[in-house]
Amino acid sequence: MERIYAPLREKVKSPEDVAALIQPGSIIGCSGFTLVGEPKAIPQALARQGKADHLTLLTGASVGDALDGALTQAGLLAMRYPYQSNKFLRTAINQGKVGYSDMHLSHMPEFINRGGLHIDYAIVECAAVTEEGVIPSAAVGASDCFLYQADHIILEVNSALPLELCGMHDIYQVDSRPIPLTEATQRIGGTAIPCDFNKVVAIVETNDPGTYPTFKEPDDVSAAIGAHIIAFLKEEVAAGRQPPSLNPIQSGVGSVANAVLAGLGDSGFSGLRMYTEVVQDSALKLIWDGKMVGASTTAISLSKKNQELFYDNIDFFRERIVIRPQEIANNPEIVRRLGLISMNTPIECDLYGNVNSTHIMGTKMMNGIGGSGDFARNAGLTIFATASVAKDGAISCIVPMCSHVDHTEHDVQVIVTEQGLADLRWKSPRQRAELIIDRCAHPQYRPLLREYLEEASKQGGHTPHDLKQALSWHTRYLDTGTMLPG
Ligand code: COA
Repeated sequence: MERIYAPLREKVKSPEDVAALIQPGSIIGCSGFTLVGEPKAIPQALARQGKADHLTLLTGASVGDALDGALTQAGLLAMRYPYQSNKFLRTAINQGKVGYSDMHLSHMPEFINRGGLHIDYAIVECAAVTEEGVIPSAAVGASDCFLYQADHIILEVNSALPLELCGMHDIYQVDSRPIPLTEATQRIGGTAIPCDFNKVVAIVETNDPGTYPTFKEPDDVSAAIGAHIIAFLKEEVAAGRQPPSLNPIQSGVGSVANAVLAGLGDSGFSGLRMYTEVVQDSALKLIWDGKMVGASTTAISLSKKNQELFYDNIDFFRERIVIRPQEIANNPEIVRRLGLISMNTPIECDLYGNVNSTHIMGTKMMNGIGGSGDFARNAGLTIFATASVAKDGAISCIVPMCSHVDHTEHDVQVIVTEQGLADLRWKSPRQRAELIIDRCAHPQYRPLLREYLEEASKQGGHTPHDLKQALSWHTRYLDTGTMLPG
């Protein structure tokens, strides 16, 4: 009870009582970003009761089994925005059982704040509620937007979260003025999310550490990708296009992104900074080792081991990490102003530099675009890094034509695989194609891709394509007998 502002203590209820308040068909905005900070007790009570169906669920980004998994398995979800990575939900989406609109993460809160969608309930996990407002977990995401806009507010105060998180957040509300942020870790707002306490209908007390993401150990492929990027960044410094300690870095989700960042630690760069949407294990380690001087993020998503390092040394990290709303962390205005180096992981890239980040074989949703589009279009330097092949070589991640496009050739400056790096800046489509085949494609696929380019070029055009062949490229693997992603 001591974590709850005294006048609100009478609103404490059990998860079952709170779940019973929620009506079928409600639109619910929940905290949670990259498996951190989602409410757990109330969604699981909703799933147990199984009454409030046809729900629309919004979060900052991906959340775990306690929320997406529980509501999907109970058959309560009708619609989901703006990003997910849950295996149960992914299957339901691909079976057409749950609707999903995959949105840029910076867009969602902005559209809601402009009146684009009415939110019935905000359900927000937090470390405490003080007179100043809600002290979030290690993820702010879109919690601020949901708390401002929802008709009713429900809080899960989780005593497994350290109170020392207080002071790490920087809550700034966007209005029509320029956002006064000119340096990655600058603080421009308050430490709590302002909250209209009259809208708080219930508070649930929990003590749940939640789950932890796991990252694949860096391997030869991710090490080679990291080495190509580091060599390239050193050339950029030598050419005067980057300062010696580089512009702030944005690094995407997943194992490849985590491993690439880990490689930067041994690269001789120092004084690094991040302006990103998620701090994963390798970024925390760079800060701990003194190679990175600070990071701005909207969530800190760590394996169990690094979560312990973070909590045990939270005063050290509070001085070096700022946790912001995703509307600021992913804001195009700031991304452009800071000239970020943006590094994300695609599913596949095509010969002309278009990138598919979301759809396996053009149809099956993997996770979503997340913040990759917010950063790719607006960064000073945009890099997409992937292994050259997937599924033990049965699939080339370099294809003639992407089966689905999330990032167009106009937003992609550099493509890198373990084979090499293609700097696409200032190149025509035909020059890009040559470079991507020579530098990025796996040797076993180079002859096929060259043959394709030659045939396509005979047909002419600024961006030559043989459409019949290009589209068949995505189905030919089905004969390999390899287990393809569901
Ligand atoms: N065709 C088919 N399957 C492919 C593939 C391709 N071209 N490329 C990768 N895959 C499969 C992998 O085999 C793996 O399958 P598995 O889960 O059955 O093992 C799966 O996709 C994930 O690939 P993995 O190599 O483990 O990648 P990752 O953990 O680095 O994640 C993305 C890669 C693309 C899924 C992830 O980065 C993502 O969701 N990106 C989009 C959002 C984004 O960029 N957010 C960051 C913004 S800040």
